Amino acid sequence: MSVHDQSNNKKVTVPLLKEMKKQGQKIVALTAYDFLTARSLDKAGVDIILIGDSLGMVFQGLESTLPVTLEQILYHTQAVRKGVSRAMVVADMPFLSYQISEAVAIENAGRLLKEGGANAVKIEGGTHIVPIADKLIKIGIPVIGHIGLTPQSINQFGSYKVRAKEEKEAAELLSAAKALDDIGVAAIVLEKIPAGIAANITSAIETPTIGIGAGNDCDGQILVTEDMLGIFDDFKPKFVRRYANLSDNIRNAVEQYVSDVREKNFPADDESY
Ligand code: KIV
Repeated sequence: MSVHDQSNNKKVTVPLLKEMKKQGQKIVALTAYDFLTARSLDKAGVDIILIGDSLGMVFQGLESTLPVTLEQILYHTQAVRKGVSRAMVVADMPFLSYQISEAVAIENAGRLLKEGGANAVKIEGGTHIVPIADKLIKIGIPVIGHIGLTPQSINQFGSYKVRAKEEKEAAELLSAAKALDDIGVAAIVLEKIPAGIAANITSAIETPTIGIGAGNDCDGQILVTEDMLGIFDDFKPKFVRRYANLSDNIRNAVEQYVSDVREKNFPADDESY
């Protein structure tokens, strides 16, 4: 029986993710912010469900992820947790929830596990976040790293363009990935970097890499669920594949409802008491 067959019913753990990489079994990850979506993703066999701080843009309609608070991630993590029995539930640590001090980072990450029911936290950043990630891992809080395009640094980057096109930044990413690998992170998200750079990083480390806009050689893939379901349709980044056009479906259904109510076609006798 392959790890993939086993993983269909086995809870997804840090060792299972590492075993999946060893056996060449792709890791499937998506985001969720609510109970029903999380339950659908879990039933469909998704391995990692991330309560991403992308909820700032996708759920709250904000322009960036920066205003998202720990309390908001905690609230959504509690909802997602209730819908998931097999997948690993990963809570994103929002901007300034882990950078201020080690004590603050431990307290906040601890709350996401203790009160939110998360199995791991995700932290954006390269070598500078290694000491705090190391501390969290040593006290039993699994950490997923996130390098490349890190949206919490949008003011530093100035745009959401592809990262690591220059050799210097590609080398920095490889060093960061190796440092995160050395301390035993559960996985590393590689966001919006050239496929060749992601492939180099993936083959240089034992930790599974999860790509988003990072080509097909990563050990797994993650997308924002609202992007791949076509619920968010303002624009489509190149790396998104749409598996449905739910915003059209929702609009059509609601237009039909509006018309039925106005034309007195709803409710019918068999929908009444
Ligand atoms: O916040 C998020 O949803 C993320 C994923 C896009 C990796 O960080």
